Amino acid sequence: MSNALNQKDKAWSGRFTEPVSELVQRYTASVNFDQRLARYDIQGSLAHAEMLAGVGLLSAKDLADLQHGLSQIQTEIDAGTFQWSIALEDVHLNIEKRLTDLIGDAGKRLHTARSRNDQVATDIRLWLRATIDEVRQALASLRLALIDQAEKHAQTIMPGFTHLQVAQPISFGHHLLAYAAMFARDDERLVEVRARVNRLPLGAAALAGTSYPIDRQKVASLLGFEAVCENSLDAVSDRDFAIEFTHAASLLMMHISRLSEELILWMTSRYGFVVLPDRFCTGSSIMPQKKNPDVPELARGKTGRVYGHLMGLLTLMKGQPLAYNKDNQEDKEPLFDTADTVLDTLRAFAEMIQGLEPQPEAMRRAALEGYATATDLADYLVKKGLPFRDAHEAVAHAVRAAVQKQCGLEDLSLAELKAFSPLVEADVHQVLTLEGSLKARNHLGGTAPDQVKAQAQKARSTLPKF
Ligand code: ARG
Repeated sequence: MSNALNQKDKAWSGRFTEPVSELVQRYTASVNFDQRLARYDIQGSLAHAEMLAGVGLLSAKDLADLQHGLSQIQTEIDAGTFQWSIALEDVHLNIEKRLTDLIGDAGKRLHTARSRNDQVATDIRLWLRATIDEVRQALASLRLALIDQAEKHAQTIMPGFTHLQVAQPISFGHHLLAYAAMFARDDERLVEVRARVNRLPLGAAALAGTSYPIDRQKVASLLGFEAVCENSLDAVSDRDFAIEFTHAASLLMMHISRLSEELILWMTSRYGFVVLPDRFCTGSSIMPQKKNPDVPELARGKTGRVYGHLMGLLTLMKGQPLAYNKDNQEDKEPLFDTADTVLDTLRAFAEMIQGLEPQPEAMRRAALEGYATATDLADYLVKKGLPFRDAHEAVAHAVRAAVQKQCGLEDLSLAELKAFSPLVEADVHQVLTLEGSLKARNHLGGTAPDQVKAQAQKARSTLPKF
């Protein structure tokens, strides 16, 4: 990155009598990070130029020169030969300077009826729109991996937990589909955010609009925006759309973090419910036996980073008077890092869930240990006429007896069970099986294998097609 530049080459040097100090130059420059917007800056400029030519503000020759120059700049950027300069502050001025070097006066005319304020807001929205599509795609791969595993494990029985205590038997598939449901809502949120991101600020100029006869609808349609940000002050100043994205990303990461926590627990020898493929784990430099679940642990940690960006952006915006303030330059790094973090995390998780190796034996053992079918026994008594509260009490006594005998409820004899309620009959033991418990929960959203398969199919049908 070069920082040598004649003061007169600065776009705004005319008013100044001394060059900006080196520290201030470095402090105020954003080109180190906003060069990532270059592709969108060029797209926006092409649409702006076409509109200017359409309303007679640029000649056909100027337009052709601009198109040629901008396309060459894109080629240079793609090839890595473009010379970025800190002295030129940001991506916009870097491109404009190169354009003028390449094509002369037409390059200087491009900024007619435009300000960097509406330009940068447009660039971020274009970038974010594309990024949301990428995130949705990565999220769809993770949802698909969960659904595939869920279908395979619609009958694999594990204990369901409340308070992290064994509660009732469920299927592993049912458990995974809970995450698929969370991620489906995350996708809905992204779609909603995208619609509000997809509006055009260009034409607002610095803040008040412009005295030229511009055609904002045309620019909007050239860039594929669904609408125009109508109030010019609002268009250049608010970054609520970036905050909304970071909010949706925070919720998504919160869900990822819950899944991470479970994977980490399930991988311990206390649970042993799953094996993670080696490529998602690392060893210890001191303890040779270790296989650590680094990917889920890091994802759990990175959730905090994304929440931090949400707080950062909210705080960045609060207290800013209308319209544009340089504070807004600080929107990019948190936004970019949010997107990078979420994308990497989703891609890693999609692959990791695909490769997940559930351990049905260990799950079953755990389900048998925790009196998970106690509710089924209570329900059995209720169906025979006992009020639920009395049934609850009778079964609680049965559980206590089993705890004392250090056996399962199903290991108690018919006579022993009858002692807790005379309503118990020979058919009781089938109610106490894990399979019977699952099968009984056969309604919309229940854990019965048929319901889980239906849920999986439904979840599959909501995946976006890319
Ligand atoms: N680099 C600036 C940003 O990211 C571009 C807009 C600057 N506008 C200005 N009038 N200084 O916000």
